[in-house]
Amino acid sequence: MDGTAEGNGDVGAGGAIYDYGDIYDLIYKGGGKDYGFEASTVAHHIRKRNPGADSVLDVGCGTGGHLGYLANEFSHVEGIDYTEGMLAECRKNLPEIPVHMADMRDFRLERRFDAVVSLFNVVGNVADRDELDATLASFTRHLVAGGVIVVEPWWFEENFTPDHIGSSLTTVGDTTVARVSHSVREGRTTRMDVHCVIGEPGKGVRHFSYEHVMALFRQEDYEAAFTRAGCSVEYIEGAYPGPGLFVGVRRGRGGRVMGSDALRTHGSSTGRR
Ligand SMILES: C[S@@+](CC[C@H](N)C(=O)[O-])C[C@H]1O[C@@H](n2cnc3c(N)ncnc32)[C@H](O)[C@@H]1O
Repeated sequence: MDGTAEGNGDVGAGGAIYDYGDIYDLIYKGGGKDYGFEASTVAHHIRKRNPGADSVLDVGCGTGGHLGYLANEFSHVEGIDYTEGMLAECRKNLPEIPVHMADMRDFRLERRFDAVVSLFNVVGNVADRDELDATLASFTRHLVAGGVIVVEPWWFEENFTPDHIGSSLTTVGDTTVARVSHSVREGRTTRMDVHCVIGEPGKGVRHFSYEHVMALFRQEDYEAAFTRAGCSVEYIEGAYPGPGLFVGVRRGRGGRVMGSDALRTHGSSTGRR
């Protein structure tokens, strides 16, 4: 992706695509999004900062595109998502991985993790900076001291390309999906109008459209949210195609960034594929 809105999944007011996890997979997995490479890149950044990391929570896990690969790297993985259509597809794809319906802005699971990741622009689905703060605070609450956060943000005010037309045409098996989107900037949000045409034997051709509004922050807004949540933060550009990655480490007492081995609260458990 190159500063455009294309490549994003879509929730916003309509949220249509997230009601159809199978169509979402067709568009993105079927379209060649390299979940395996992305997950191994994320695992590398986690291990670099916390070599003993063993457990990972994927926030906004969707249909589990990264979760399946992360489960090959870490002993215990779990996911949360806010849309039943995506979770249903995730459970179908990865029945052995626990996933929960939860809102990233305020969730409470019963355990903490060595890493919390949130990939493919999930965190752009907030209304404003207060919600971004609440989201990062929720992530940090679920980390052991020295635990790592990896966030793939939405595009920044600095690099978003307005008036962009995105398009993809994907065929998997005998089903074809055409997706065309138009993105504009509206104040401190982006609005994307998306149209999907699906052709499938036995069902014919159907069409749906929806609007997806996401928050547009500056790089420094994300960094400030990490800092306020009690984490260090660095921005890594070009880790893989997309808007880059923020990687933070939860500080221990006294503001020191600590290795998680000293303070780990959970050992390994199930989840490896
Ligand atoms: C673009 S998709 C990314 C899904 C997955 N991470 C991937 O890479 O395929 C965005 C996901 O964020 C989820 N989402 C949106 N708002 C959320 C919220 N407030 N809490 C948790 N998940 C949310 C959506 O349901 C959707 O599954």
